[in-house]
Amino acid sequence: MATKITTISIAFFLIYFSLPPLSTAFVPQDNYLISCGSSANTTADNRIFVGDLSKPGSVSLSSGESISLTNPNPSSKSAPLYQTARVFTSASSYEFNIKKIGKHLVRLHFSPFNSGNHNLNHANFSVLANGFSILSNYGVKHTVIKEFIMVVNVVDFEIEFVPMSLLGFAFVNAIEVFSAPDDLIFDYGAKLIGPNGLQEFKNISEQILETVYRINVGGSKLTPFNDTLWRTWTSDEDFLVLKSAAKIARTTHTPNYQKGVYSFGVVLFEVLCARPAVDPLLTREQVNLAEWAIEWQQKGRLDQIIDPYLMGKIRPSSLKKFGDTAEKCVAEYGVDRPTMGDVLWNLEYALQLQETRRQQELHEDSGISGSGVVPKLPSSSVGTEGGSGGSEVFSQLLNSEGR
Ligand SMILES: *[C@@H]1O[C@H](CO)[C@@H](O)[C@H](O)[C@H]1NC(C)=O
Ligand SMILES: *[C@@H]1O[C@H](CO)[C@@H](O)[C@H](O)[C@H]1NC(C)=O
Ligand SMILES: *[C@@H]1O[C@H](CO)[C@@H](O)[C@H](O)[C@H]1NC(C)=O
Ligand SMILES: *[C@@H]1O[C@H](CO)[C@@H](O)[C@H](O)[C@H]1NC(C)=O
Repeated sequence: MATKITTISIAFFLIYFSLPPLSTAFVPQDNYLISCGSSANTTADNRIFVGDLSKPGSVSLSSGESISLTNPNPSSKSAPLYQTARVFTSASSYEFNIKKIGKHLVRLHFSPFNSGNHNLNHANFSVLANGFSILSNYGVKHTVIKEFIMVVNVVDFEIEFVPMSLLGFAFVNAIEVFSAPDDLIFDYGAKLIGPNGLQEFKNISEQILETVYRINVGGSKLTPFNDTLWRTWTSDEDFLVLKSAAKIARTTHTPNYQKGVYSFGVVLFEVLCARPAVDPLLTREQVNLAEWAIEWQQKGRLDQIIDPYLMGKIRPSSLKKFGDTAEKCVAEYGVDRPTMGDVLWNLEYALQLQETRRQQELHEDSGISGSGVVPKLPSSSVGTEGGSGGSEVFSQLLNSEGR
């Protein structure tokens, strides 16, 4: 069953059909907010998460073995919702009674803590939604919210947690399952840019989609207070990358993904190559953009796979810096990845290389690994704004047709 994977990680090219709804109040017919391992209700962003121990009516916990945990040493910063967890020592599931067949958003909150007997950082497990694997060999070292959009066409919707080994365990802090507006995702018209040009992605809602990035293009930060689906959209300003790429690299993650330098690296490759992170329509070695791009990057031939529109327009030194930066971001181990601050500096620098030959000559050979490696450029040149200058660079993505 775990092999029936149809999860597609679509780097929120869903911006195309998922602009943040601002005012219309959306009242989901199914609306389950569960605080796991807790007997009390917990409020987060004005929403009440019901403790799973309080036996909320239409959600039930299947047999299997699980225990409730409370963080013995909660930090003052950690949200109340994350101070309890349910730990599964054998395959177990929550069942949700679904009133409205159709698209649902499913969010799983993971915030590991050490309770003595169980250090949640060591969990290793799979999660299945109605038998479809949505996470496998999964574990987290910091707070992560995983969000999926899927059609639920059964009245008993099951989310199952399966430890990967006999002595291992799974955990979850909170679960949200709620009806999504039918027009959240359009089945037709979602066009993705691949190497062969625009490709239409059909029947997208029949897949289980994982939200990877949420981009509020040109918008401000929205919190769960003002997004009708309680998503968090962050203002692009914090993440302005190349000012030329800025119009698209208004790239953010929900706060819990912000630690995701890795994900950001993937976005950089998406920007550069004008294709989604995962494109199941491509040949096997090309499906995963990060892997494919790294291969070319390491051969020093990243220029071969960039957006054709950029070919001949982007200076090799700038491309190299951009590629090196993205490569570092997707390093296999977290410790090898740069900080977001370093990433931004390096991208600024890539922009400078693009724009200024003199600076190109001066600094071309700088590495990118640690902070301070990249010379801080005079603020006057860093701060230049406006749509002229390098605005053609990376600019196929300005073409909104495909998004
Ligand atoms: C928890 O919240 C639910 C839903 O709002 C409510 O029906 C229930 O009475 C609350 N339980 C407690 C113990 O406050
Ligand atoms: C879980 O266990 C599998 C098999 O031992 C391993 O390949 C994988 O990396 C582990 N995942 C985590 C998050 O530890
Ligand atoms: C999309 O779904 C419809 C109805 O389920 C089906 O007839 C059609 O073949 C699907 N198209 C693709 C490309 O899968
Ligand atoms: C969204 O809500 C926040 C409070 O969380 C508020 O400060 C902000 O102005 C709101 N933004 C919009 C666009 O309504």
